[in-house]
Amino acid sequence: MRRAGGVAHTRTVVVEFIGRDHELALMARLRARALSGRRQVAVVSGEAGIGKTWFCERVTADAERDGFDVVWGRCWPHAGAPALWPWPAVLADLIGASGASLLAEDPRARGARRA
Ligand SMILES: Nc1ncnc2c1ncn2[C@@H]1O[C@H](COP(=O)(O)OP(=O)(O)O)[C@@H](O)[C@H]1O
Ligand SMILES: [Mg+2]
Repeated sequence: MRRAGGVAHTRTVVVEFIGRDHELALMARLRARALSGRRQVAVVSGEAGIGKTWFCERVTADAERDGFDVVWGRCWPHAGAPALWPWPAVLADLIGASGASLLAEDPRARGARRA
């Protein structure tokens, strides 16, 4: 936002989501399978800045449009995160505050550390 002569001007830049057609179609197939009762897992990986978050946000919008509930867990971007770091947030969103402590009670999660 900049001010000229006391009047505030706001410039909005809309950046269009580009490409990823193949991956978006893959995620649509996974959703269709999930709706038929088969659990699906997809891993989105890649170097920083490659577009992982944008892709997941786009998939979130598509999934919500299809009637899915979407919850997020975010990976810790640095070394030394406790094992399974993204999952307490996911569980808490799914089943409430008690979900966040479920993994802490599991000795396999408590003992393990990720590099
Ligand atoms: N599909 C896309 N279309 C257009 N721009 C994109 C797309 N994916 C990523 N970008 C651009 O690249 C930047 C970094 O993407 P981001 O999803 O934050 O990367 P990552 O999560 O992998 O670090 C975004 O802020 C956006 O400007
Ligand atoms: Mg990201």
